[in-house]
Amino acid sequence: MTEEQRAPLPAFPDGFLWGTATASYQIEGAADEDGRGPSIWDTFCALPGKVVGGDTGAVACDHYHRWAEDVALMAELGVGGYRFSIAWPRVQPGGRGPVNTRGMAFYDQLVDALCEQQIVPMATLFHWDSPQPIEDAGGWLARDTAERFAEYAAVVADTLADRVQHWVTLNEPVVHMLLGYATGVHAPGKALLVDALPVAHNLLFGHGLALQALRARGAQSVGITNNYSPAWPATGQAEDVASAAAFDVLYNRLFTDPLLHGAYPEELAGTFDTHLPDRHHADLGVISAPIDFLGVNYYNPTKLCAPSADSALPFELSPIDGFPTTSFGWPVVPDGLRELLVGLAERYGERLPPIYITENGCSYDDQPTGGGRVVDDPERIAYLDGHLRALCATMSTGVDVRGYFVWSLLDNFEWAEGYSKRFGLVHVDYATQTRTPKASFHWYHDVISR
Ligand code: BGC
Repeated sequence: MTEEQRAPLPAFPDGFLWGTATASYQIEGAADEDGRGPSIWDTFCALPGKVVGGDTGAVACDHYHRWAEDVALMAELGVGGYRFSIAWPRVQPGGRGPVNTRGMAFYDQLVDALCEQQIVPMATLFHWDSPQPIEDAGGWLARDTAERFAEYAAVVADTLADRVQHWVTLNEPVVHMLLGYATGVHAPGKALLVDALPVAHNLLFGHGLALQALRARGAQSVGITNNYSPAWPATGQAEDVASAAAFDVLYNRLFTDPLLHGAYPEELAGTFDTHLPDRHHADLGVISAPIDFLGVNYYNPTKLCAPSADSALPFELSPIDGFPTTSFGWPVVPDGLRELLVGLAERYGERLPPIYITENGCSYDDQPTGGGRVVDDPERIAYLDGHLRALCATMSTGVDVRGYFVWSLLDNFEWAEGYSKRFGLVHVDYATQTRTPKASFHWYHDVISR
């Protein structure tokens, strides 16, 4: 530990919401139970070579059966908030139509248990696990999916809007578009490159319609979460600077400009307009309806250089040296959090709503010692400590951040990486489903109680 980490963290404002986050497909398991329908991730995981080790989310952390133990862990941790996601295929197995009451009952009891522990529920409606029938009908390439999504939002709100305090419509639409539809690294595994762009518009339109549906059912606090990554040019040369700017437009602004400015970045005019329905301008009013908060997920910055001649993209990724890395190889750059928050405040000014950091965390190959009772994860403590210091410094300059959610409560199914990456404050032994709080869990508990 450095001298800085030994010093107590600076104070956060009263009412700051300390939380932790998970997502349905990554922890629930019980893929065939209580009428749940197939999701695109069930389909994707069954394809050879798509997920490390052939892993699937069929059992995951078995949270569907162990939710009470997991809520008890959160109570022990002392968090004031829990961000979880709802599996659309559990609620509407075919992606449309009446609610599957057995699936909905799972979330109903979870939310009750959270409220009993005075843990504020923050529910994400879409964390990438579309019902397979929705994908079969075109998925997010189809405008109709936005309408179906709003219908699903309404069904969920009918049951939960009286107790869920914060709603996140979509998780990281940019990642779902890029990895799910442009490169095919995630479900639904489509590698459409630039032809994936309609997905952006349909996701945004789905967000706007879902926002209306939630508000009509009394939801008080509705937002959307995206992933942001400061774009660093590899050198000061004009081509690298232009590449970083192009990445910034695609990654950081494509979804946030329409939400907060009511327009797509003008740099995309031409490329983008030709990929969208003519009426997309008319949808911008729905898309840019005021939100109550912006969810920010931050993991690391991205370095860009000029693309090679045959590249389909206007940039190429370049390694970031000189920083420690996580087991994913991601550079640990706490100041990137400050950089992106200041960038958002400068770009959107008064239109920027209050922010929640809805994810921040790191993967390390944590293993139990001491007969299985101890999991030492000093790197995670250093990571979280550094990011919280950066956050506090940024807040002191006037950026309005209301809460922070560590990704993740539990080690879990890390998408295409299967179970090979551990992000949890709590270690999960997947063979026995034993949960062991890591040292970072106890550290975070102390941060919260101070
Ligand atoms: C996603 C999580 C994921 C985490 C770590 C975020 O992009 O929302 O589902 O596990 O990053 O990769």
